[in-house]
Amino acid sequence: MCGIIGFTGKDQAQQILIEGLARMEYRGYDSAGVALEVAGADGESRLDVIRRVGKVSGLASELESYKESSTCGIGHTRWATHGRPSTANAHPHVSCDGRIAVVHNGIVENFAELREELTAAGHEFRSDTDTEVFAHLIEDAYTTEHDLMAAVRSACARVVGAYGLAVVCADEPGTIAVARKDSPIVIGRGERGSYVASDVIALIDATRDVVVLADDQFAKLTPDGIEYTDAGGNVIEPEVTHVDWDLDMAEKGGYPHFMLKEIHEQPRVVRDTLVGRMTAAGELDIDELGLSLEELNDIDRVYVIACGTSYHAGLVAKNLIEAWARIPTEVEAASEFRYRDPIITPTTLVVAVSQSGETADTLAAIRDARIKGAKVFGITNVVGSPVARESDGVIYTKANKEIAVASTKSFIGQVVSLTLLAMLLGQVKYRLTTKQCRLLFRELGDTAEQIQHIIDTQGPAIAEAAKVCKDAHSALFVGRGMGSAIAYEGALKLKEVSYLHAEAYAAGEMKHGPIALIEPGFPVIAVATKSPTYDKTVSNLMECRARGAAIIVVATEGDEDIKKIADHVIYVPRVRDAFSAITASVPLQLLGREVALLRGCDVDKPRNLAKSVTVE
Ligand code: AGP
Repeated sequence: MCGIIGFTGKDQAQQILIEGLARMEYRGYDSAGVALEVAGADGESRLDVIRRVGKVSGLASELESYKESSTCGIGHTRWATHGRPSTANAHPHVSCDGRIAVVHNGIVENFAELREELTAAGHEFRSDTDTEVFAHLIEDAYTTEHDLMAAVRSACARVVGAYGLAVVCADEPGTIAVARKDSPIVIGRGERGSYVASDVIALIDATRDVVVLADDQFAKLTPDGIEYTDAGGNVIEPEVTHVDWDLDMAEKGGYPHFMLKEIHEQPRVVRDTLVGRMTAAGELDIDELGLSLEELNDIDRVYVIACGTSYHAGLVAKNLIEAWARIPTEVEAASEFRYRDPIITPTTLVVAVSQSGETADTLAAIRDARIKGAKVFGITNVVGSPVARESDGVIYTKANKEIAVASTKSFIGQVVSLTLLAMLLGQVKYRLTTKQCRLLFRELGDTAEQIQHIIDTQGPAIAEAAKVCKDAHSALFVGRGMGSAIAYEGALKLKEVSYLHAEAYAAGEMKHGPIALIEPGFPVIAVATKSPTYDKTVSNLMECRARGAAIIVVATEGDEDIKKIADHVIYVPRVRDAFSAITASVPLQLLGREVALLRGCDVDKPRNLAKSVTVE
């Protein structure tokens, strides 16, 4: 979704805003803008609003010729929801008198009726956005409250929806009003002033001690301090969180793209996610479990709820939980889950998987499941994120900051974490012995080295295979069992970074329709690692080959036979089938990236996408 930022203090605001927005650009890059507070010649303050369609770099060049001095301002980088990408729809949005400006991350669900009411009251709207109602609502309230914080609180009380909001007002120089509901807001004090942003990455070089504002909380930022209040205006003391990762982790570190850097970080992610997870006695140690072993033993149904890549990690988990713990497990698209009234009882475990921990669909599904009495377990990459806070227990994937919009290292962290959860459920259900768990844990750890081996050896094979897809119009990914879960992730990676249409199918399904798509040279990408269904997958590939498909296969090292039916073979080390999702997904991540480069796409910031989706 969008990224918002604000600074008030001793330094010039525009550079701080631009740098922060550039770091949050993965949240949306349809347009960018700032509102800067400037002291007029008459000593009267005013707001200068500068906006530009496209990436933050465009706004930065626009500001090069801007010479005014300003030590207080707000900024925004947009992922369009209401109103197409345009200068008029770019944030900040201002009140009729231009003396109040707002930036917003989220959605105002009742904007149409508010807009109608405000228009009838004489307000003039200049954009098609939902957000603009905030500027006019605050303007309206300010005429009676004559206090920005009070005006912002009363405006928020009228709004239905999600908002991370920052507001400046020319009549209250140096003040930034902040409000939060279902959208991320972090706030911090540095030596040079007060900062607010949608993501700590935008203010980490000013401070590491931040407040993650909770829902229905507000903050008043001034150059000298920050005051937090609740919806009633009562002063509150929120908890301060210390951020333990550094900016280097959010830089490319010499790689051409974040996506490649993050793929190469995956061996570390496996190791870090497993650190301290098994005691000397061979017992799994998941200290943030939040559920007693008795409660886990009572679990008789599991739902894994998630979106996108996280959903695909769920497909892997289903295979493992059913195999090791024999608990019926469903994987559900979070956006569908709550609207289909699923069967939930107190012995139902809902596992919510989310890299960002702020995906609105997943959060809404968690809340619904809790109301229905389910136990909720979160798998997320962001400490203190809403998914973590709203779950009974949580496992943090130790992937650190993931910048590239296409998830890679977080997927591996999720699969490793879900594998641990499946092992734990197998242990509490007395289906996995400590000895078996110890063996599985050791082999799981070995996947770190195996990923490194793939990265070190398969580059040329992947580059050759990518050429098959460069000018294709569509591609099919196939696999069986664990292979089909990986096929779905492979297809998503290719789609989202190279814009090449791709679908995934269980290999056995091909002959029931999709095989009709195949014509000479049509790319079929198969996951055919050694597994109980290997032979069946090979015969399905033979059927595709017979129709002239260009076959690309991810196969197990030493499998020479597969070369007879494949045009390109990408080899991965031999692993237990249960762990093949970890090793076989890496070549498909790299393949997606290679094809994207051949097609001239922006690998880190694919069109129309954003790293976290905070609206339903
Ligand atoms: C995957 O590469 C995409 N970024 C997207 O599908 C993502 O997985 C989805 O939006 C879910 O995000 P989450 O894991 O942060 O909840």
